[in-house]
Amino acid sequence: MAEALPETALDQLFRKARSYNGWLDKDVSEDQLHAIYELMKMGPTSANQQPARIVWCKSPEAKQRLAQYAGEKNQPKITSAPVCAIVAMDLEFHEELPWLFPHTDARSWFAGEDKLAVREIQAFRNSSLQGAYLMLAARALGLDCGPMSGFDNAAVDADFFAGEPHWKSNFICAIGYGDPASIFGRSPRPDFDKFNTIL
Ligand SMILES: Cc1cc2nc3c(=O)[nH]c(=O)nc-3n(C[C@H](O)[C@H](O)[C@H](O)COP(=O)(O)O)c2cc1C
Repeated sequence: MAEALPETALDQLFRKARSYNGWLDKDVSEDQLHAIYELMKMGPTSANQQPARIVWCKSPEAKQRLAQYAGEKNQPKITSAPVCAIVAMDLEFHEELPWLFPHTDARSWFAGEDKLAVREIQAFRNSSLQGAYLMLAARALGLDCGPMSGFDNAAVDADFFAGEPHWKSNFICAIGYGDPASIFGRSPRPDFDKFNTIL
């Protein structure tokens, strides 16, 4: 039986982890990006859909290319980060289901033009979950994150996914070693009774 993680691990993943706006001058290697993916892919998705498609913008050119589509305040958060990941979703994720979910014919649940709206819901839900797994995996590996949705999704899709028109960006996430000087005080978090009910 699994045991609860030590308090220090819970601090690193949740209590002391922050969303960073600025970054220390310390590289993140391709090996580290692979390590993030090797953990995040183990997180659950509906019928093991794995709809997330990640583009890791690591070169200065790639980060600049992405930043031009972001809000003015988000642009330096992208260009100064060691890496900025585009967390996208594949609206044709069902084509991979024969090998991703081999126990049954799950592809047929989502195939066809009339199922596009269903696929959009499924892909958004599960790629968002995978984005969260990505952030927690990065934190577990000693990295920090700066998630952002303040960018022009359609413009990013047109530029980065011209060859894959069924890929749609969900959110982007800067990754690196966070600069403590770049964040303000922690915003309040609600107590259990505020937004929870146990029936
Ligand atoms: C999906 C998502 C989108 C976000 N978009 C932006 C953004 O466009 N720009 C920004 O500066 N912060 C953005 N944030 C950061 C949030 O404001 C931040 O995570 C939240 O205030 C909690 O901060 P903390 O983790 O430091 O407690 C986003 C966070 C998430 C999860």
